[in-house]
Amino acid sequence: MKKYFLKTFGCQMNYSDSEKLESVLESIALEQVERIEESDIVIFNTCSIKQHAEDRVFGYVRNAKKLGKIVGLTGCMVRKTSTQHFEKDEKDSLLKKFERIDFVFRIEDMKSLPELLQEYDENIQRPKISFDELDYLNISPKLKENFRAFVPIMTGCDKFCTYCIVPFARGKERSRPFADIVNECEMHVKNGVKEITLVGQNVNAYFLDDSTRKTLQRQTDFAILLDEIAQIKNLKRLQFTSPHPRHMGQDVIDVMVKNENIARTLHLPVQSGSTKMLQKMGREHNISRFTDFTKNLRKAIPEITITTDIIVGFCDETEEDFQETMKLFNSEKFIMAYISKYSVRKGTIAGDKMKDTISLEEKKRRFELLTEKLKEVLRKENKKEIGKIEEVLVDEVKNGIASGKSHRGRTIRFPIGEKNKRFIGEIISVKIISSESIWSFTGEMM
Ligand code: SAH
Ligand code: SF4
Ligand code: F3S
Repeated sequence: MKKYFLKTFGCQMNYSDSEKLESVLESIALEQVERIEESDIVIFNTCSIKQHAEDRVFGYVRNAKKLGKIVGLTGCMVRKTSTQHFEKDEKDSLLKKFERIDFVFRIEDMKSLPELLQEYDENIQRPKISFDELDYLNISPKLKENFRAFVPIMTGCDKFCTYCIVPFARGKERSRPFADIVNECEMHVKNGVKEITLVGQNVNAYFLDDSTRKTLQRQTDFAILLDEIAQIKNLKRLQFTSPHPRHMGQDVIDVMVKNENIARTLHLPVQSGSTKMLQKMGREHNISRFTDFTKNLRKAIPEITITTDIIVGFCDETEEDFQETMKLFNSEKFIMAYISKYSVRKGTIAGDKMKDTISLEEKKRRFELLTEKLKEVLRKENKKEIGKIEEVLVDEVKNGIASGKSHRGRTIRFPIGEKNKRFIGEIISVKIISSESIWSFTGEMM
């Protein structure tokens, strides 16, 4: 057993976890392969957010077993129990549920993976470094790219929005010590990283450890952390995902204004334009609070772009509620929205106690109308971008065309007149010429 194939589903937190998992597997001399066929062992880092996400994993597992692989499962489908320990019983029930799976482990137990794998191959080496005492969040990631990095600052969620499985999958909110995060970010920048994304289920619920709190007494904890990281010399771009509207305030805006290397784009999931729906979802914020915040943000940083998450067809969502969301798209001018059809998750408050009243057809209709609304707004907004000059961090070069994101979160492609890859990881000034599709622009190098 020498080669492994890892597939990651879900959010950026899972991608960040997978980079740590790769470090652990590398430490026992397992080699990562790009094609499942070439592997001996397959690991799926899973997402549970919607039924569809879990169904996809079932499909992949079936295929991997057909190919005769040893299959392991981790991530959010391997739930955290109420006792906060992953008990043997639960492990057994999951293995039974997925008949075809050979082993499961909780992501925070990744450091015990070498031991677990020795059951399948006694030649598995002991790790060259010891992970024993290490909180998994402190395991150094194996970065895929040398110019950008995801850095977890907290994990878990205590919000218990009525529809959401994350608090059950990831367990309680837990913040990483301030110094560990800052050290990791400094190390990345020293190694040439230009863009850092701070990740967590609710980044702005970040909680300072006591030793840091004693020395720093201003603003909220997340604003302090953000400010400190933004000051790292040579860090070109800092962004974070996802913040919760409930904890968003002027302090974060002030830190963004002060530090121009913080990206001029913000992902702020609102979920619905109807306060009644937000209450039912247990979001603990209302629409006027959300729009007050975005108004203040735009006043302070007029060039900011905003993206969001929406759930359509949540329990008892009326046409009027839905129209409130449509209206919000007109006024907020989101440049992107991840729109989901409500999916019942067993074990959540809505899943167990509320009726899934909206038919799948109606959810689809609302999904399509809202997607069309998003495009309609963007067609108008995109025109205003023509002629602007943006700083693009190139992340891909294909057939002489470079592409990447601007500081304002827009995808821009531009010809580089040659097919080499030396542009990848560089920040280039690009003038926007046209909006080739709704989601991206064409530009030319300045
Ligand atoms: N912590 C973030 C969201 C993380 S989950 C926040 O609070 O904003 C990512 C997104 O998945 C959510 O924003 C929501 O839009 C969607 N989602 C979560 N549970 C869902 C469900 N049961 N059905 C459909 N979409 C869901
Ligand atoms: Fe889920 Fe709500 Fe927590 Fe976000 S804040 S992860 S939506 S429970
Ligand atoms: Fe999915 Fe877990 Fe992220 S459920 S969205 S991978 S926190």
